[in-house]
Amino acid sequence: MKFTQPAAFSATIKTDVLAVCVSADDPTGLPPELDQAFDGTLSKTLAEEHFTGRPGSVLAVRSLGRIPATWVLAVGVGNWSASEHRLAAGAASNFARDKGAKTLAFATPASGIPGERDGALLRSVVEGTIAGNYRWDRYKGIDERKPPLATVKLMGLHRHRQALKVAVAHGQAQSLARDLVNASAEDIYPESLADEARKLASRQLKVRVWDEKKILSRQMGGIHAVGKGSSRPPRFVHMTYTPSGTPQARLAIIGKGVTFDAGGLSIKPSSGMQTMRCDMGGAATVLGVMSALDEIAPNVQVEGIFGAAENMLGGSAYKLGDVLTMYNGKTVEIHNTDAEGRLLLADCLSYASELGVDACIDLATLTGAAVVALGSHYTALFTKDDEFADTWKKRAEEAGEGIWRLPLEELYKDKLKADWGTLKNVGGREAGSITAALFLSEFVDGPTWAHLDIAGPAFLDSPEQYLVKGGTGAMVRTVLRWLEEY
Ligand code: BES
Ligand code: ZN
Ligand code: ZN
Repeated sequence: MKFTQPAAFSATIKTDVLAVCVSADDPTGLPPELDQAFDGTLSKTLAEEHFTGRPGSVLAVRSLGRIPATWVLAVGVGNWSASEHRLAAGAASNFARDKGAKTLAFATPASGIPGERDGALLRSVVEGTIAGNYRWDRYKGIDERKPPLATVKLMGLHRHRQALKVAVAHGQAQSLARDLVNASAEDIYPESLADEARKLASRQLKVRVWDEKKILSRQMGGIHAVGKGSSRPPRFVHMTYTPSGTPQARLAIIGKGVTFDAGGLSIKPSSGMQTMRCDMGGAATVLGVMSALDEIAPNVQVEGIFGAAENMLGGSAYKLGDVLTMYNGKTVEIHNTDAEGRLLLADCLSYASELGVDACIDLATLTGAAVVALGSHYTALFTKDDEFADTWKKRAEEAGEGIWRLPLEELYKDKLKADWGTLKNVGGREAGSITAALFLSEFVDGPTWAHLDIAGPAFLDSPEQYLVKGGTGAMVRTVLRWLEEY
């Protein structure tokens, strides 16, 4: 997808779809040149259809030869903010893809809008355009597929070369994460997920992969146990991005990479298993982020880490009542094999602690309870550090992603007390996302840490805003913002 920035608005621009932003304040307001080409019928249509200018809402009109564009699309942009522009651009490019359009022209008057000069507005529009144009059609027939946009002409937006470059990197990183989540578990399993990491290796990005023997010999009891019941053995992956200058800090991003979660012996019902290929969403986000670092070049060292395993119930599966010895030496008593993600993450968190990173975060489709509490628009954020929490809220806001802090309430630690091990792997039905986070906290030693439960936003069962159903690449943009601003 190529982005160009013509000098000024023109209703006669050569394009398949001409999208024009319309605000909530003036929901019939169009560029006069365009409305005149339609003898005033466009603004009349907006009024008669009660168009509100709600961000991301659209009204499409065929031009029938009045202008070169086939379609005119009014897109709501609310109060003109950068994040509302992301929704508008996403909606426009989503529409364009549905129509099989090759070219989209997107018009908004940037002048005076916050974020205009520093490129934040341009970044939002470009990110929205890429995300809205995304489709998952690898398993569809050629005749069922519609082509992606080849060219996007941005009109009225302040030019900002660096912001454009960064935004394209953000968009591609998010698309990579979506592809990895959407691919079937027959294609993405622990070894092939590790291959995805190997593909990213470069001069500045080193990749190490441990196989099941090494995992066992290094006492990663969590990753090993979860992977045991599958014919496809587990992997541990550690990527390191080193910047060219002296790094400002050393940071770790950790992902849950359960390539399919059948629940193990505590098997899930079919309905709960249907989309459990999404359970490597955290690792997909880590891979998406790592894939953009060469291009974005943040001045921090980044350790990208994930444990990959298929949670199955073969004859060698881990069992209820097993007591695992984890990487940091703590022991965990298994009360439910479906609470597997925290076992993988625990080993990764101890490993990152051992590396001596300044801060670390983990991303995981960890609990159904987070989906119940916050739905698909919000990631659940857990951290002991108020300042760190505020940083994450800020970065998520800039990236146009929902995040909501839940308490890491120490009073609930009692729920994890075990009879024979140090900890149980489940804390009961109540406060399920919190006890999962508390479990993880037992394996962090040193770095400032946040846990992001992306079980809700990582995968959509139905389309939301400009995103088609399936993998979303949740938190890719937010994590990248964090690294950029650190
Ligand atoms: N992968 C699931 C969580 C999940 C549920 C992700 C729905 C996305 C959508 C996780 O491994 C799991 O099964 N968690 C259990 C934990 C319970 C056994 C303590 C859950 O949430 O029910
Ligand atoms: Zn599970
Ligand atoms: Zn899981």
